[in-house]
Amino acid sequence: MATMESLIGLVNKIQRACTVLGDHGGQGMSLWEALPSVAVVGGQSSGKSSVLESIVGRDFLPRGSGIVTRRPLVLQLHKTESGAEYAEFLHAPKRRFTDFAAVRKEISDETDRITGKTKQISNIPIHLSIYSPNVVNLTLIDLPGLTKVAVEGQSDSIVEDIENMVRSYVEKPNCIILAITPANQDIATSDAIKLAREVDPSGERTFGVLTKLDLMDKGTNATEVLEGRAYRLQHPWVGIVNRSQADINKNVDMIISRRKEREYFETSPDYGHLASRMGSEYLAKLLSQHLELVIRQRIPSIIAMINKTIEELNAELDRIGRPIAADGGAQLYMILELCRAFDRVFKEHLD
Ligand code: GDP
Ligand code: NA
Ligand code: MG
Repeated sequence: MATMESLIGLVNKIQRACTVLGDHGGQGMSLWEALPSVAVVGGQSSGKSSVLESIVGRDFLPRGSGIVTRRPLVLQLHKTESGAEYAEFLHAPKRRFTDFAAVRKEISDETDRITGKTKQISNIPIHLSIYSPNVVNLTLIDLPGLTKVAVEGQSDSIVEDIENMVRSYVEKPNCIILAITPANQDIATSDAIKLAREVDPSGERTFGVLTKLDLMDKGTNATEVLEGRAYRLQHPWVGIVNRSQADINKNVDMIISRRKEREYFETSPDYGHLASRMGSEYLAKLLSQHLELVIRQRIPSIIAMINKTIEELNAELDRIGRPIAADGGAQLYMILELCRAFDRVFKEHLD
């Protein structure tokens, strides 16, 4: 019997194959949408990119004040058995990145390639895969921050454009929402929670993440929220302490910052009793467990979708005359093969 980990790995592979297939066929995209992913939502500089980095355990995203994330980043994590650790972009498939600082630069450059060095945003996603022994199999999506006002050099429609872009991801019923809310601002005005409540009123796919606990005013704390007495969500809030800008400037290592975060909770007079349910490592585990549950619940509908895709792929291959090596054909074959594997593994899980 296949493990859940291999099942999620297979989901990942199919999502990736569908991405590669891109607009070669509509069938790929509908399958993609049937599979779960995790998106970060929140105001500008709320800590979205930082939270994603902590989940991955690597330093590779452009971060900072202002509008840094200007295109959606679809990030697929693949757990490797071999210990190999590298990254690949869909737009540069032949280049294997082992230096994560170079990954960050490539994200910036690729953002600028579409938007120019302006503060404009673009709907066109960047697709990045990270292969590592230290990740859980997950698809994460980093999104531009929600904002209330346009800044110099941006069109007036930008506030609405960003909201629409974010909404297009989080309204999908298979999208798990990480609602990033900074603890040093009024939670009642959290853009993330507002949007999440709108697209997911029951809260079954929303996870509240409270960042910047270390930056709260002295004498205040977030125990009301973290203990589930204020701003209650269906899933409990997870508190996070990401690296400060000073830490980033000093290149404080990810491993060290994770340890500092753990120590922060364990030694905190306010949060010590919650320490086992706080922090980025806990969040990563929680998400992975939730994903497992969602996939289990969806097995029957995913099988139906896969079978439909197999039929459509066969029809498409008949139509184009079953080429052996032609690019489009080869990709169709690859997806077909993955779908068959998927179908097999999923049926085992039904037993
Ligand atoms: P994004 O715009 O939502 O993606 O936010 P970023 O992840 O780029 O973070 C914005 C800034 O806030 C950066 O300078 C981070 O170092 C800082 N930051 C994010 N989370 C925390 C946190 O938990 N504590 C502290 N001290 N700083 C944080
Ligand atoms: Na930012
Ligand atoms: Mg960001």
